[in-house]
Amino acid sequence: MSASVPSFEKSFKGKKYIVTGANAGIGECITNRLLDLGAHVFAVGRDDSKLPPAGPNLTPIVADVGDWDSYDKIKALGPVDGLVNNAGVAFIEPFFETKKDSWDSTLNVNSRGIVRFSQAVAKNMIDAGIKGSIVNVSSTIAERAIPEHVAYCASKGAVNQVTRTMAIELGPYGIRTNNVNPTVVMTKMGAKAWSDPAKSGPILARIPLGKFAEPQDVANVTLFLLSDFSSYVNGVSIPVDGGFLTG
Ligand SMILES: NC(=O)c1ccc[n+]([C@@H]2O[C@H](COP(=O)([O-])OP(=O)(O)OC[C@H]3O[C@@H](n4cnc5c(N)ncnc54)[C@H](OP(=O)(O)O)[C@@H]3O)[C@@H](O)[C@H]2O)c1
Repeated sequence: MSASVPSFEKSFKGKKYIVTGANAGIGECITNRLLDLGAHVFAVGRDDSKLPPAGPNLTPIVADVGDWDSYDKIKALGPVDGLVNNAGVAFIEPFFETKKDSWDSTLNVNSRGIVRFSQAVAKNMIDAGIKGSIVNVSSTIAERAIPEHVAYCASKGAVNQVTRTMAIELGPYGIRTNNVNPTVVMTKMGAKAWSDPAKSGPILARIPLGKFAEPQDVANVTLFLLSDFSSYVNGVSIPVDGGFLTG
């Protein structure tokens, strides 16, 4: 292999990453894949009792992504090579029943939290001269709305634009920012919205691959975006949707 071609494993070995929402679903899967590749993970969750235990390569961090003041805790971790803004919440409410608290919580965690955590992480990267990678977990919902999810749809639409803005402003420092945009994944969040086949069936019928995504499918694309294999990819949204958005 030519010396100029990066090794996928070497992209991760001994490097440090922050993953938010690391105690469940997609975030837990990404955390485990990074650990398998020899990386150190700061696993962020809001509930101490749910976080994985500390280990040689894992540091559990209790921090609320929806809290603006979590900045100091994340900044104090020091420079890392990458950040996965994965934590998210969803409230299922018909449009006329959307509540102020659920709107605020959804936008604070899913959109504002990405900005705040990325400010802390990118500042440390710049100060340390690290050309890092930030991956934001968005959704196909950012482009194709669904009923009873107005706050969630708005929050993910915002994520796409936050990503593009970060790509423009952080790119000059060599920091890349991109999205992954999954369709339905049957995690805790996915099951809450899509366990009823009468609701999920029409979405499934539009997916050419004929199945919903697995956490590993999202982790695969996230690892690609964190790695040197995506060294010239900046500001994009990559659907992980079996072709859902194509038709
Ligand atoms: N599942 C899907 O169908 C789907 C589709 C497209 C995109 N996504 C996105 O994928 C991401 C992961 O979702 P998932 O399906 O893995 O859901 P999940 O199983 O419900 O996991 C969500 C994670 O985020 C954490 N979290 C929520 N609010 C937090 C806060 N304020 N501070 C810190 N952590 C917080 C949760 O912690 P707790 O356990 O303490 O609640 C949990 O660890 C989300 O951004 C979601 O919007 C999911």
